[in-house]
Amino acid sequence: MHDINLHIKRQDIDYSIKFPQDFETLATQLAAQINDRNFLIITDENIFNKSSLFQKSGFFKNNNQVPLDKGGMRGISRNLLILPPGEKYKNWSSIEKILDKAFSQNLDRSSLLIAIGGGVVGDMVGFASHIFMRGIPFIQIPTTLLAMVDSSVGGKTGIDSPFGKNLIGAFHQPEAVFCCTKFLESLPEVEIKNGLCEMIKHGMIHHTPENPHFEELEKLSEKYAPNSHFLEGLVPLISQSIAIKKHIVQQDEQESGTRENLNLGHTFGHAIELLSEFKIPHGQAVAMGILKSIEYAKKYGVLEDESLEKRLQKMLKNFGISTEHNFSDAEIIEAMQHDKKKKRGQIRLILPQRIGQVCPHRLNI
Ligand SMILES: NC(=O)c1ccc[n+]([C@@H]2O[C@H](COP(=O)([O-])OP(=O)(O)OC[C@H]3O[C@@H](n4cnc5c(N)ncnc54)[C@H](O)[C@@H]3O)[C@@H](O)[C@H]2O)c1
Ligand SMILES: [Zn+2]
Repeated sequence: MHDINLHIKRQDIDYSIKFPQDFETLATQLAAQINDRNFLIITDENIFNKSSLFQKSGFFKNNNQVPLDKGGMRGISRNLLILPPGEKYKNWSSIEKILDKAFSQNLDRSSLLIAIGGGVVGDMVGFASHIFMRGIPFIQIPTTLLAMVDSSVGGKTGIDSPFGKNLIGAFHQPEAVFCCTKFLESLPEVEIKNGLCEMIKHGMIHHTPENPHFEELEKLSEKYAPNSHFLEGLVPLISQSIAIKKHIVQQDEQESGTRENLNLGHTFGHAIELLSEFKIPHGQAVAMGILKSIEYAKKYGVLEDESLEKRLQKMLKNFGISTEHNFSDAEIIEAMQHDKKKKRGQIRLILPQRIGQVCPHRLNI
């Protein structure tokens, strides 16, 4: 797959997303990117225990073919920090661990941090690198489908606060992203589905003859099975999905306009997640949120393509993504009161019009 290059106007910087096919190529490309700099790799326990990157490939064993850390990989464990997994650790305490380890390894302003993880690790490492000695570079190596197509692209970094998710953070672009789809082999099915929902969201926001993402996902959904054959079919669609996120981020890095479209399904979705006490996984809640936004698009007369709802329902069913819940509109609207996107009593919803076209809508609550 070809590299995808991003240009960020605000800082006039460019970086690329590379697609190493296997872990050996990843190691070689990463070593070249690190060059002779001091670095710290951060991952989480699940990835460390389950991914063959750490288990089989020799990446973290002594492998002199990989000139990381100059003398091979013998000393690599010194450069590795393994955090506990999950959203509940996306907090200050993990940031402190990253910073303490970076100081104890003598990292300085010429060093870099490397995130090997899902959105949780990626967001935290991005934020830690933004504040370590007032900012050092970092590299994203996404290991979940969601992180590949969404969180590793675009430079939003941060942690959660007891007052809400992602309330503390910064815009800090990575210096490079290495998207190696081999990581998906150890990823649980529920996490594949979370990523698929964000891909569907991209397909609903942006659709062109060159990149008919929604239709490609529809075709793929006909062949859904939780196996490696399905993953092979999924791989080319990952770069299509990243291209859409790139397109939007390049237009509006700091979400003053079109980047807001990426919230499609999320305002309703976050409310549904909250009402379910986070028992409904994020992607599934977003899918329910997108369906709810189609209902509202009908209600406010902005839906142009009546077939959209049925097509989306069919695709979600094919992917085995449940859209059943028992929450009423009143409960959902009540839960939306806590949404951080609420401004002066108004929620800005993103509503679908047709495939590839959405519009903002203000809802007074
Ligand atoms: N920065 C952004 O623009 C942006 C966009 C979307 C979401 N996010 C953030 O991303 C986070 C969600 O990311 P996520 O869905 O990747 O969650 P995650 O990082 O918690 O990963 C999901 C689970 O999969 C495990 N895992 C990761 N890779 C694995 C692998 N290859 N094999 C086996 N297990 C693996 C993790 O340990 C975790 O248990 C949220 O905190 C969200 O706020 C950020
Ligand atoms: Zn999301």
